[in-house]
Amino acid sequence: MQIDVYFLTFEKNIYTIMNLYTILRSAHSGWRYIVLAMLIVAVVVAILGWFGKKEYTEGNRKLNLFTLIAVHLQITFGLIIYFISPLVEAGIRYWKMEHVGMMVFSAILVTIGNARSKKEVLPQGKHRTITIYFGLALLVIMVSIFQMTKVGPLTTFWGMTH
Ligand code: HEM
Repeated sequence: MQIDVYFLTFEKNIYTIMNLYTILRSAHSGWRYIVLAMLIVAVVVAILGWFGKKEYTEGNRKLNLFTLIAVHLQITFGLIIYFISPLVEAGIRYWKMEHVGMMVFSAILVTIGNARSKKEVLPQGKHRTITIYFGLALLVIMVSIFQMTKVGPLTTFWGMTH
């Protein structure tokens, strides 16, 4: 009886974890498109603002803030998956070290870029800061996703593995 209860609880926990894993993995996989799209738009708008000597509007501020939030949400999904993913458990170097390292680095760039743009006084300085930091973050993310396609034969740059 005691053993039955133990196994039932164990089975229930495993299913709960697997469901959480499946849901978060799909969310994390799909959310990349939002992150990439927002970063591309934010960088293009910043370049146009910088070289076109445009004002730094409330719209610009909100675009950059929402891009930051999108990146942070992706990091949050990633951090939870990290502890339940079989790919990490299998000890695959890319998933254990490189993916998390590069993605956290890109999030730091976005966070610092957004904070520094606020401290700049002139609109051009704000646009320039966003261009450089968000642009670098976008590059790091793209390189990391490209690397991912080399690790798993089923992974493509735009596609989902599972
Ligand atoms: C901007 C940040 C990030 C982006 C754009 C991103 C993107 C992706 C993409 C495209 C996949 C492949 C999903 C698929 O197979 O369809 C993935 C998987 C994964 N990511 Fe991220 N990621 C980010 C941050 C993170 C962070 C910070 C962590 C961990 C702390 C993380 C952990 C993982 C893990 C463990 C997997 C493999 C999931 C599995 O299939 O078992 N990610 N990520």
